[in-house]
Amino acid sequence: MQKQWYEIKGGKRLEGTVTISGAKNAAVAIIPAAVLAGETCILENLPHIQDVQSLKEILEELGVSVEYTDGDCMQIDSRTLRTTKALSEAVSSMRASYYLLGALLARYGEAEVALPGGCVIGARPIDQHIKGMRALGATVECDVEQNIVRAYADKLVGAEIYFDVVSVGATINVMLAACMAEGVTVLSNVAKEPHVVDVANFLNMMGATVKGAGTDVIRITGRPKLHGCGYAIIPDQIETGTFMIAAAATMGDVVIKNVIPTHMEAVSAKLMESGARVIEGDDGRDFYIRVVMNDRPRAINVKTLPYPGFPTDLQQPIMAYLCASNGISTINETIFENRFNHVRELRRMGASISVKDSYAKVKGIPSLRGADINASDLRAGASLMVAGLAARGTTNVHNIEFIDRGYEYIDAKLNALGAEVTRKEK
Ligand code: UD1
Repeated sequence: MQKQWYEIKGGKRLEGTVTISGAKNAAVAIIPAAVLAGETCILENLPHIQDVQSLKEILEELGVSVEYTDGDCMQIDSRTLRTTKALSEAVSSMRASYYLLGALLARYGEAEVALPGGCVIGARPIDQHIKGMRALGATVECDVEQNIVRAYADKLVGAEIYFDVVSVGATINVMLAACMAEGVTVLSNVAKEPHVVDVANFLNMMGATVKGAGTDVIRITGRPKLHGCGYAIIPDQIETGTFMIAAAATMGDVVIKNVIPTHMEAVSAKLMESGARVIEGDDGRDFYIRVVMNDRPRAINVKTLPYPGFPTDLQQPIMAYLCASNGISTINETIFENRFNHVRELRRMGASISVKDSYAKVKGIPSLRGADINASDLRAGASLMVAGLAARGTTNVHNIEFIDRGYEYIDAKLNALGAEVTRKEK
């Protein structure tokens, strides 16, 4: 396969209007959740990203009929499902495949799913997903060597489940498993992220009874059958934040449309603290956020936390922004270990960053300089895009397949704002 990268001619002030796509993290849960319905579901506002394409192919491998009907609309009909074994390479290459476990278990009483290496016992465990499904009466077996998880149950029965860590994935997965269980399930210490609420709303549209999503406790009354529905996915909180940060990092003036401003409060607060103007508005059709920045950012401290705290997925982009801050900023990553792979690449652009445990100290310099750098994951990729846009000179961001997983037409969207980003290949 040919290698592709983004060449960014940096230092251009971003100006204009950009429209945010549907939320990746909601889409990757809602697409598998659609198999819960014994009928057709039509999903709208899906982002054109690789993760959505991969899930389409994975569902098709299971025999599910999945078709794009109109641009960003997808029709999913699981009546033709042939197997509950999702073991292909496409499945194991995508972490969000774990949602197939909850959805298939709920609807068919069995599921076998290949997971990315190291996930069951590694740095991103799924013990809380498994704990929840076991509490509902499922037998869950992990083949650690092959990274396959198998779950089955004659019937699932509602239970009270307290999560030991606040986990987006476990909250959604157990919610999926519980919505067709007999009786009532109460999930405590759950994640409150916007996409948790979006999945709950989708389940309710299918006839499920899920209450309390967005608070610490979710109560689910199981229903024997769910039906098809149409559903429009919320705008992407992380894409919104990435554009807000990119606008500030280039001392730009950008109106970001199709957003939900309340989802952005932590990000808006931090950008304002750093000296940006963040204006929320409603143009009669869409909510928007306008970010205006005229100066180098002031140094700030950022700590990642579960929602409504500052999202870990924007820790990497905001670090790129703070590289040019006026003073010393600190970043405390409390959600994931080792989420500092972008630091080495930012240093190649001249950044002065030291890391100790979960803390990064960023000593601001007047500006980054262009370099050849490598994305190590999706949000690291977003961070390097922000860095390249703000830097003097030309930056080549490699390994952009990570960025394609989660950002729709990022080059075109940035170029419409005055950036010079070219997708190159060799
Ligand atoms: C989701 C998001 C990801 C985001 C993350 C945190 C999707 C598809 N991905 O990932 O973009 O960065 O939330 O907002 O929505 N943990 C356990 N045991 C478990 C599950 C998680 O210990 O069973 C730990 C993790 O190691 C991590 C923390 O809980 O330290 C949060 O992880 P979690 O919220 O589950 O992240 P994901 O759902 O994988």
